[in-house]
Amino acid sequence: MSGSPCGRLGKRFLFQFANEHLDFRVAEFSAIADLFGIKLESGWQSKNIKDPFWEFQLSSSTDAEKLASRSMLVKSALELWGKGATYPEMYEDVRQNTAKHCMIPFCGNGASFKIKVDTYNKKQTQEYKVQRINDLPLDVFPLEGKIDLKNADHILQICENYGEDHNTAPDTPCMVYFGRWLVDGQREKIKTYNLKERLFLGHTSMDPCLSLLMANMGKCCKNTLVFDPFVGTGSLLVSAAQCGSYVMGTDIDYILLHAQGKPSRAKQKKRSKDESIRNNLLQYGLQQFYIDALVADASKSSLWDSRLQVDAIITDPPYGVREGAKKLGSEKNDPSLTEEDKDGHVPQKIDYHLSDVFRDLLNFAARFLRIEGRLVYWLPVYSPEYCEENIPRHPCLQLVSNCEQKLNSRISRRLITMEKCHECQVRLITLCFSGV
Ligand SMILES: C[S@@+](CC[C@H](N)C(=O)[O-])C[C@H]1O[C@@H](n2cnc3c(N)ncnc32)[C@H](O)[C@@H]1O
Repeated sequence: MSGSPCGRLGKRFLFQFANEHLDFRVAEFSAIADLFGIKLESGWQSKNIKDPFWEFQLSSSTDAEKLASRSMLVKSALELWGKGATYPEMYEDVRQNTAKHCMIPFCGNGASFKIKVDTYNKKQTQEYKVQRINDLPLDVFPLEGKIDLKNADHILQICENYGEDHNTAPDTPCMVYFGRWLVDGQREKIKTYNLKERLFLGHTSMDPCLSLLMANMGKCCKNTLVFDPFVGTGSLLVSAAQCGSYVMGTDIDYILLHAQGKPSRAKQKKRSKDESIRNNLLQYGLQQFYIDALVADASKSSLWDSRLQVDAIITDPPYGVREGAKKLGSEKNDPSLTEEDKDGHVPQKIDYHLSDVFRDLLNFAARFLRIEGRLVYWLPVYSPEYCEENIPRHPCLQLVSNCEQKLNSRISRRLITMEKCHECQVRLITLCFSGV
């Protein structure tokens, strides 16, 4: 027993994760814990990412609620009453660690409750589930309250885990958990911010789950300033703004920012007048967080006043076939203009090599982030040749996390999170990056 009146009740929590973006779990959870100042037990980062159930010792259910209040990968959080490799082991664990008087408020006389049975990696019939509920021993669980399937005050939950592969799932679960449902994660936002409904959409608008994950990695929160130098249609601004950050961006593409180009939706002939980043924010009631988006070249940091300071830079730099990088420049030996050419002049663009894109981005971050501010960006890699040394580095930026999203068997992109650790003395440094 832990010495608290409820045994370990209120201290053990079970987080169930969604079965996607496994490589991002530790980084997201860690960023959210940091954001709320929640201390997690040492060594937790080595948890098995293929196991969707992670147990944590936390000081209160409020901490579990805070973690779930931001997570895109957590499905739900339970206050854990017991666990075991078999049902009898789980009952024994409840007996040992969860005092009855701590369960009574949630299922004893005076409370209404229902019990859910969730099975991971094996489908079970309703009959099977009902049987598991009927088998719960009443000397362990004080289930004396009113059962209410529609409007219960509390939800108790049995979670059965049948292992990593549903094709080879055993007959009986390898782990059984019992607890009180506390809260769901933020998976609903994947629907809320669905790109299909997005007013202003581009070919490379970022999907909502990844956009929101990026905002979490960047620790975007109320009253912070977030910048996207390759803003496109502003999908990353939407995700940062819904965390309460003020947002701004730049993009070199005048036609795109002014929604004058070809629409990205197959059935749409012309872009409509109201397509804009501002209206994307307005669509979700986030317009008060929008500062502006400028047509500007991210390779020219001299645009910015040296006093600019941002809390996070979250961005998806141009690297793909569809969105090749360009910067302002000229191949001519003498690009100067005569007075009459200046009127209505459209500046020329030249190729912007990938290694220069990342060099400029890290230099910009080192200069304009506040100390402990974060840079979160995607880095394309050719998987057969990838090693961690390929990641661009800067002496003022510390690598926090590096999560892989496989695009195909050879190409991946990595979500890199860096944190500014020193003020920048050197203005520009050259980085080594071979990329894809
Ligand atoms: C991968 S897209 C970003 C998409 C964006 N996240 C969105 O929500 O639509 C990269 C963007 O970088 C822009 N870009 C390319 N070269 C640039 C440069 N030198 N400076 C600023 N933006 C640039 C492209 O116009 C493109 O919109």
